[in-house]
Amino acid sequence: MIVIPGAVVYPDGVVPVSRGEWAQCLEECRTTWNCAISSQTITGCFLFFLNQVTSIDLSNTSTAVAFKMSLPNECPLKTDNPPLFGKSTSEVIATNGTSYFKTQVVGSTESQLTLNFTSFECLKDFPENPVLRGNDPIRYDYPLAYKFLPGEEFFMKGKIAPTFNKRFTISFLGPSDTYPLFIKVINGLADSPYSPEKGNHQIEISTWKETFAANPISIKTYPNPYNNSDAFEIRIKSSDTQVFVYLNGTTTLTFDIEPSLPLNSTISFVINYSGTGGERVDDYYVGWTGECSWVPMT
Ligand SMILES: *[C@@H]1O[C@H](CO)[C@@H](O)[C@H](O)[C@H]1NC(C)=O
Ligand SMILES: *[C@@H]1O[C@H](CO)[C@@H](O)[C@H](O)[C@H]1NC(C)=O
Ligand SMILES: *[C@@H]1O[C@H](CO)[C@@H](O)[C@H](O)[C@H]1NC(C)=O
Ligand SMILES: *[C@@H]1O[C@H](CO)[C@@H](O)[C@H](O)[C@H]1NC(C)=O
Ligand SMILES: *[C@@H]1O[C@H](CO)[C@@H](O)[C@H](O)[C@H]1NC(C)=O
Ligand SMILES: *[C@@H]1O[C@H](CO)[C@@H](O)[C@H](O)[C@H]1NC(C)=O
Ligand SMILES: *[C@@H]1O[C@H](CO)[C@@H](O)[C@H](O)[C@H]1NC(C)=O
Repeated sequence: MIVIPGAVVYPDGVVPVSRGEWAQCLEECRTTWNCAISSQTITGCFLFFLNQVTSIDLSNTSTAVAFKMSLPNECPLKTDNPPLFGKSTSEVIATNGTSYFKTQVVGSTESQLTLNFTSFECLKDFPENPVLRGNDPIRYDYPLAYKFLPGEEFFMKGKIAPTFNKRFTISFLGPSDTYPLFIKVINGLADSPYSPEKGNHQIEISTWKETFAANPISIKTYPNPYNNSDAFEIRIKSSDTQVFVYLNGTTTLTFDIEPSLPLNSTISFVINYSGTGGERVDDYYVGWTGECSWVPMT
């Protein structure tokens, strides 16, 4: 805890928890995962929890206020003044065991520190008003900030091309031109010479290494249940050894993962990989459960 002269500013409706003794109160706040601030009062002390404080008024020096700060292994330089030791902001991350919460203390003005409380949230399913990804006629690259691990889910919805003999592809692209997973949804005639059967109007699931000039390491084909202009919904999940592709929640396609190309080596999802005229999918949205960000606590 860092203790400074100042007064806590908090919204109407927040009732701080009252305690008797300052030193004990400081220690209680320090050891309570969701305590953000303790403040000295005439009779004792208040505890404030995450998202209960707006700012600290540094011009009101009638009381002391304490907040948490993570310091590197060394003490701050003598030339760097408290409370933020030469930085414009300080942050600590707390967890209740399953979720993560960040408290930022921002030096907004000379006489005020602003508090910013956020929690780490990941997409669970299609957003209510998805921002379509596919309106530019180009291949779409979606770099992954986290690994696609068992338990994660990829989801895509959109519309099949309005005319036959089009296709679209979903690539799970790995490093060095590898494709742990490559899905081709063929509407009409197939263009692939490597298909086991003719491949017309099928969904191909395959794994590739190096270049598209070669043949896939493995491939499986399934009937394509969609027709021209059909709306579709595709979800992809995995175990360590298998991929499960769900079509509209009614059909499940299963594919064995190539052990040398695990799905967790995926670095980006790519739609319309080759960017050629035969590739088409309309009004589509792509997302996954690894799309995470810090959002303001409510
Ligand atoms: C200073 O802070 C104390 C304790 O929070 C508060 O009671 C008092 O009203 C504040 N004074 C001013 C001038 O804001
Ligand atoms: C942690 O906090 C989150 C979000 O408030 C909540 O959904 C979850 O149940 C909490 N976990 C535990 C173990 O209390
Ligand atoms: C698919 O759509 C075409 C017209 O676009 C129609 O002729 C055909 O009957 C449809 N096939 C099925 C199985 O619904
Ligand atoms: C698939 O699901 C989408 C939306 O979830 C729905 O609009 C569409 O009609 C479904 N398509 C088929 C062929 O069942
Ligand atoms: C990636 O997946 C493979 C196969 O399941 C596993 O052996 C390996 O430990 C995983 N690596 C990471 C970094 O998760
Ligand atoms: C894929 O690329 C081709 C050629 O640039 C374009 O005609 C087509 O509309 C693209 N499709 C998507 C879904 O971006
Ligand atoms: C508060 O956190 C949000 C989300 O990380 C960020 O966008 C915003 O800039 C932060 N505000 C300040 C004052 O740092």
